[in-house]
Amino acid sequence: MAKVTVRDVDLKNKRVIMRADFNVPLNEKLEITDDSRIKAALETIKYILSRQPAKLILMSHLGRPKGKVVDSLRLTPVGERLAELLGEPVLKLDDCIGEEVKKQIDSSSRRVVLLENLRFHPEEEKGDEDFARQLALLADVYVNDAFGTAHRAHASTTLIAKFLPSCIGFLMEKEVLYLGKAVTSPDKPFMAILGGAKVSDKIGVVDNLIDKVDKILIGGAMAYTFLKARGIETGSSRVENDKLGLAKEIFQKARDKNVSILLPLDHICVDAVDKPQTRQNTEGQAIPAGLMGVDVGSRTIEEFKRVLSLAKTVLWNGPLGIFEKPEYAQGTKQIAEYLAQIDATVVVGGGDSAAAARKFGVKDKLSHVSTGGGASLEFLEGRELPGIAVIPDKN
Ligand code: 3PG
Repeated sequence: MAKVTVRDVDLKNKRVIMRADFNVPLNEKLEITDDSRIKAALETIKYILSRQPAKLILMSHLGRPKGKVVDSLRLTPVGERLAELLGEPVLKLDDCIGEEVKKQIDSSSRRVVLLENLRFHPEEEKGDEDFARQLALLADVYVNDAFGTAHRAHASTTLIAKFLPSCIGFLMEKEVLYLGKAVTSPDKPFMAILGGAKVSDKIGVVDNLIDKVDKILIGGAMAYTFLKARGIETGSSRVENDKLGLAKEIFQKARDKNVSILLPLDHICVDAVDKPQTRQNTEGQAIPAGLMGVDVGSRTIEEFKRVLSLAKTVLWNGPLGIFEKPEYAQGTKQIAEYLAQIDATVVVGGGDSAAAARKFGVKDKLSHVSTGGGASLEFLEGRELPGIAVIPDKN
């Protein structure tokens, strides 16, 4: 059922409070190293401003300050970046609730306000109703556009909706549209590329997709656990020995549903991740003793491309190797670049694969790159996200 969106609500002369996910990475100098989450909120922010609201009050968390004020996690750099991107000043406050906050909002001529990190108050993560009510007191309408935090049942993502007319923004709408179509009615053939370190992180996604997907292509460290479960040598690669049974169950499920699972055909292996003395592209699937896999090999890349060329929908979740290191990035890079060329709906499920899509410059060439990490994973597992569930359905 479609949710009420910001388009459906009269915003003129209203005070609008919007939850965004401005949880962006910062370096030691407190500079933002990736502003995609701020940019992703701009469409909704600009739309709201175009409806002539009395105020637009933005709120977010940043990091995990555990209910205390942590100066390095203030939203000041976000406010500055936002002002640059919007081309107008933003009133950045030092707190998010209370009389002083209300007074400052009332007396300022600025129409865009950014509250301080919500998680400086322990009540935010506890889902405290009174804290949510105090946030609600600042405004007339609540917009939730924080897809990245929609899996958290916190005061600003769920409880606040009890007190105000509520709707979702465009980012939330787009995330639900693309990720939702992939998990419910993908155009076929539908291929899922799953990577990353842990089999256990992806089991829920496999379970939810197994009835819809045609092929699952597996890379990243989780592939070594699958290979070992098939009795193939994995050398000193990172293997989750306690998940071999789980990997076997996944093979069985796939057989039962006629889904093929493609494991890497060859690997890039080294004797040590940092400063290796030995590096080789294996002949086949086995990894020699003393070596560990760090990326998929060249035959795997070609085979994955061949299979993906047949796809009408691709869902990609998890990198294929240690892509953060350029020497082990080829698999992830080449597949990312290939996905940007094919004639298919390509949806990237957030987290590390979204970071890879940005790093290799293909983000804007793919159908959708999710801004959620944990949220997109939970969504792909078929779970209802509390931050979306609380928003009323359209009549
Ligand atoms: C994220 O980065 O995944 C979201 O902002 C949620 O952050 P959290 O895992 O600290 O709740």
